[in-house]
Amino acid sequence: MSFIEIKGLRKTYGKAGGELSVLKGIDLEINQGDSIAVTGASGAGKSTLLSLMGALDRPTGGDILYDGSSLFGLDDKRLAAFRNSKVGFVFQFHHLLPEFTALENVMLPGLIACEERGLLRERAEGLLEEAGLSARLDHKPGELSGGEQQRVAVMRALLRRPEIILADEPTGNLDRKNGEDLFDLLLRLNTTDGITIIMVTHNDLLASKMKRSITLVDGLICE
Ligand SMILES: Nc1ncnc2c1ncn2[C@@H]1O[C@H](COP(=O)(O)OP(=O)(O)OP(=O)(O)O)[C@@H](O)[C@H]1O
Ligand SMILES: [Mg+2]
Repeated sequence: MSFIEIKGLRKTYGKAGGELSVLKGIDLEINQGDSIAVTGASGAGKSTLLSLMGALDRPTGGDILYDGSSLFGLDDKRLAAFRNSKVGFVFQFHHLLPEFTALENVMLPGLIACEERGLLRERAEGLLEEAGLSARLDHKPGELSGGEQQRVAVMRALLRRPEIILADEPTGNLDRKNGEDLFDLLLRLNTTDGITIIMVTHNDLLASKMKRSITLVDGLICE
């Protein structure tokens, strides 16, 4: 049994007549500890695939099995619980809250889940240390560089110890050096902590450093 099994996944936007069929029956098996680059032209459906994998949206057809269990057979409440505990998201723009410090931003998903503040603080400090940001705990996003902001966003995604990181062009808004540093951080989480990473990227060099690379073409996958 695979860790994640995507079966006949379809996504169509719009209503009858003006339908746009973006994913046309995707099949993919993913093992725990995989690192997969997702590439493809703009509009090919990369973000759509990630949002389905992270249960941010429901498919038009097909399903995703996690550890053999149907994801989209779950009701909305259970789907939200899955999203909040199993998956960490990193986007092109960090979406940090501007009025909170780096430490508070990383702690936030745990505070929302009513975890104990002292333990959360310890874990968040540890994560920020791992990202080389120990000297920036009290900085607000506006007082951090773009690369630092993105590293804070990765650590926020890790706070609840997800099994999977879904990253949608996480380096897309960074210069080369900061992009490589962020990518190295993600790769380290994969190799040392065994976190499964699915990353959309337009950067072929980064894609080549991951264990697998898939390309979306005409709504289907080429690996
Ligand atoms: N909510 C929506 N309603 C209607 N159409 C949508 C919606 N979201 C995406 N689309 C369309 O679906 C197609 C795939 O979009 P998606 O964002 O998945 O592409 P992408 O591969 O991530 O592209 P990019 O590289 O530009 O980020 C696009 O043509 C887009 O216009
Ligand atoms: Mg996209």
